[in-house]
Amino acid sequence: MYRTNTCGELRLADAGKQVILCGWLQKSRDLGGMTFIDLRDRYGLTQLAFNMEINAEICEKARKLGREYVLQITGLVKERENKNLQMPTGEIEISVTELIVLNEAKTPPFTIEDHTDGGDDLRMKYRYLDLRRSPVRNNILLRHKMAQQTRSYLDAQHFTEVETPVLIKSTPEGARDFVVPSRMNPGQFYALPQSPQTFKQLLMVAGLDRYYQIVKCFRDEDLRADRQPEFTQIDCEMSFVEQEDVLNMFEGLVKHLFLSVKGISIDAVPRMTYANAMEYYGSDKPDTRFDMRFVALNKPENNLVSGKGFKVFDEAELVVAICAKACANYTRKQLDELTDFVKRPQIGASGLVYARVNEDGTVKSSVDKFYDEVSLKKWAEACGAASNDLILILAGNAQKTRKAMNELRLEMGTRLGLRDKDNYACLWVLDFPLLEYSEEENRYFAMHHPFTAPKPEDISLLQSGQMGSVRANAYDLVINGVEVGGGSVRIFNKELQAQMFEVLGFTPEEAQNQFGFLMNAFEFGAPPHAGIAFGFDRLCSLFGGAESIRDFIAFPKNNSGRDVMIDGPSAIDEKQLTELHIALKK
Ligand code: AMO
Repeated sequence: MYRTNTCGELRLADAGKQVILCGWLQKSRDLGGMTFIDLRDRYGLTQLAFNMEINAEICEKARKLGREYVLQITGLVKERENKNLQMPTGEIEISVTELIVLNEAKTPPFTIEDHTDGGDDLRMKYRYLDLRRSPVRNNILLRHKMAQQTRSYLDAQHFTEVETPVLIKSTPEGARDFVVPSRMNPGQFYALPQSPQTFKQLLMVAGLDRYYQIVKCFRDEDLRADRQPEFTQIDCEMSFVEQEDVLNMFEGLVKHLFLSVKGISIDAVPRMTYANAMEYYGSDKPDTRFDMRFVALNKPENNLVSGKGFKVFDEAELVVAICAKACANYTRKQLDELTDFVKRPQIGASGLVYARVNEDGTVKSSVDKFYDEVSLKKWAEACGAASNDLILILAGNAQKTRKAMNELRLEMGTRLGLRDKDNYACLWVLDFPLLEYSEEENRYFAMHHPFTAPKPEDISLLQSGQMGSVRANAYDLVINGVEVGGGSVRIFNKELQAQMFEVLGFTPEEAQNQFGFLMNAFEFGAPPHAGIAFGFDRLCSLFGGAESIRDFIAFPKNNSGRDVMIDGPSAIDEKQLTELHIALKK
């Protein structure tokens, strides 16, 4: 028997027991007469004590051990003299009577402790060592728990987990595909799925009724903190349902996860239309942990800024303000910082106008020479600004200004401590536009994907060519400003699907070639269906209180899409290339 107990379980009540433990040497302290070792395994740390007077031979042996040696020890559980109440096992130690070195270890390139001295790159290269550290290991354990709870909820709701293929066919919509050359079909390529979308719809045609899968998806897109080239979805589809049924079912999943994993009860998830989200927050994934809603100051029916000789506002398509509570005392330096922030190329505003509401209710702005006290008071009123509040204003092209104001709002939320990671604000964003126009390609793209159903009341707009105004029965779940999931009611009628492909610029032949399998299936009795997919890595990182999804993935890629531990991707040899019928350009 390798061990009788783990390194995380012995307590004072176990004093007097003879135990065998196994683990890694985390730290050793040689105090001359006594040597102490912290022994670590997945479950925790236990202190081992070696006494020169009781057993000099073992003590000498213990003194020579290096960090991360793999040990097996036998000993007696004893009450500690110097208790450490921060540690679950901190009231006991093991007085060691037998010590076996199961394996030696090279000195690790960074310290394997909660706070390590290792930089990101080094930790990625030695990810298996990083995973020995409890913060990283706990993230992986959290992920496991979330997956278990997801399965338990969906299973209870009669969802069947079905595996769909990984070697599929490239489709032109969405992100770039990762492709795999086929040795047996010269010149042809599989694509790795960006999601199992078409397969889950086929499973509905097959009558599975409720499907889910915790599944790897692959997208060759630029990487960010919340994006990995291979990531995991909780992918779901249901038959004979409307949007409302899907929202309720998956609100249930989110509630179940919060309660079972974090012990948090959440209220009914509020809903907002895409149009309102853009108007109030300039984003389709607003962080609703705090308010600070946008207020347009140049509404046609109530224009509070035009005609006073200030060209920037007169010529702007949108003049929009936010109110930062109790910030009227911002210094010149702080305001300059905010101005520099909005002028950064990534944000792209040309400047920032501000107005302070003083203690006595008077308003002072950076554009005083154009606006008198009466005008400024109207701004304050429109923004709901009271004494000591600061109004921040951006102006210009509507879309760009909203985008910039979204960034400024988030920045202010952060500065004011309104974005506490332990506070969760969930939101359904509904009624996304069906189509989005690409100036570059001069055509419409499906905003979600080509299988999303238009709202029945908007189908006539599609027919009359007002593509941009058609809304979809599509929804996103947003938590703390992160798009955690998205889905839609699907088209299940062959004619409407064909019309949709036409709008997206496919000829009937191209549509048949790319999606014939789905359109053909729709001829054999497709049920009405709808679904959703959650970004599982994002959900885990939110639950873990982190911004980056990387630490919730056991073996992630870096920002260049590389796995620096296995050093992939890599070149392959000539023979392999020849077999795959690939000739590289010299
Ligand atoms: P969508 O493309 O919105 O929908 O993806 C669903 C969710 O997956 C997560 N996600 C990602 N997470 C990490 N890295 C990425 N590169 C990445 N890309 C997306 C997001 C997103 O909300 N088939 C549809 C779903 C449906 O209609 O049922 C789909 O894939 O959290």
